[in-house]
Amino acid sequence: MKALVLSGGSGTRLRPFSYSMPKQLIPIAGKPVLEHVLGNIRDLGVTEVGIVVGAWAREIAAAIGDGSRLGLRVTYIPQDRPLGLAHAVRTARGFLGDDDFVMYLGDVMLPDGVADLAERFRAGRPAAQVVVHRVADPRGFGVVELDAGGAVRRLVEKPRRPRSDLALVGVYFFGPAIHEAVTAVAPGRRGELEITDAIQWLVTRGAKVEAVEYGGYWKDTGQADDVLECNRHLLGGLGGRAVVHPTARVVRSLIEGPAIVGANTVIEDCHLGPGVSIGRDCVLRGTRLSDSIVLDGASIEEVRGMHGSIIGRSAVVRPADRDGMRHRLLVGDNTRIEIPVSI
Ligand code: TTP
Repeated sequence: MKALVLSGGSGTRLRPFSYSMPKQLIPIAGKPVLEHVLGNIRDLGVTEVGIVVGAWAREIAAAIGDGSRLGLRVTYIPQDRPLGLAHAVRTARGFLGDDDFVMYLGDVMLPDGVADLAERFRAGRPAAQVVVHRVADPRGFGVVELDAGGAVRRLVEKPRRPRSDLALVGVYFFGPAIHEAVTAVAPGRRGELEITDAIQWLVTRGAKVEAVEYGGYWKDTGQADDVLECNRHLLGGLGGRAVVHPTARVVRSLIEGPAIVGANTVIEDCHLGPGVSIGRDCVLRGTRLSDSIVLDGASIEEVRGMHGSIIGRSAVVRPADRDGMRHRLLVGDNTRIEIPVSI
């Protein structure tokens, strides 16, 4: 079995961060989302991985390389424009050949792994096996309807009135029949070639299409609040520990776990945590920070009540120079700033 990881797309929901980096490289618990994804793939015993890349091809290749560091052999597959998940499969035809493959969205976190689901696919070898998760409000997802016997009957992309609570999590197992299906479908109402339409095409033609339920923790990291929520969840696995890189310098500070501090970062007179992930080459002074992610090279000085925040690469947060009673903001497009109402 091969793997196809989708890391193109436009990432509009993760602005402003996605203006300067691909959303698949946003760090969660100290590691890019894409590395978490590739770790899960390696746990399936799959080593041959194609990564579909768009405008951020160079950045993704710089982070992942040939995959050997992660025990994988990575091939990059350029997609000219993000024309949909089925279009990505079309684009990858040469890499995939007629092999079975797992298709995995590059921005989806499933920390409990999908190895048991892969085993089930390998044993039954249906034309397609989709992974679903029960959600309270399925309207924002691809939704799967099953018949009385549990077979997939219908797949609908972001339905206004969902008829099931089974949402597609972003992991799919396919046999070679999917290639005819992705060639057959036309763009849907979003103008994209939808993978749900291609799978529906298989269902309509009587192919064996199964749904398997993933019961663990699942997060689509396409939006900032989901990134923070997922960071909180993963740090929870540290059991209250603070993991500080040996080259980081911590002076007169308290770090409450769970927390992660990256290489060459300097922390002075701070109270950090719980629930913080600090990148490398950061400087934090006189700061109180909890439940947040700080990306590489950022500096934060004398900010005493920061919480639930994401600070971008090389960003600077510090008091105004002269008149400490006013805010001075040099804020990029689509940025969100929330300040206490009393100030
Ligand atoms: P989405 O999150 O659905 O789309 P997007 O990346 O365009 O984000 P936004 O809605 O915020 O603008 O995509 C899911 C994953 O699939 C993501 O990792 C990007 C990837 N993808 C491709 O590789 N090619 C594509 O044509 C599309 C649409 C997505």
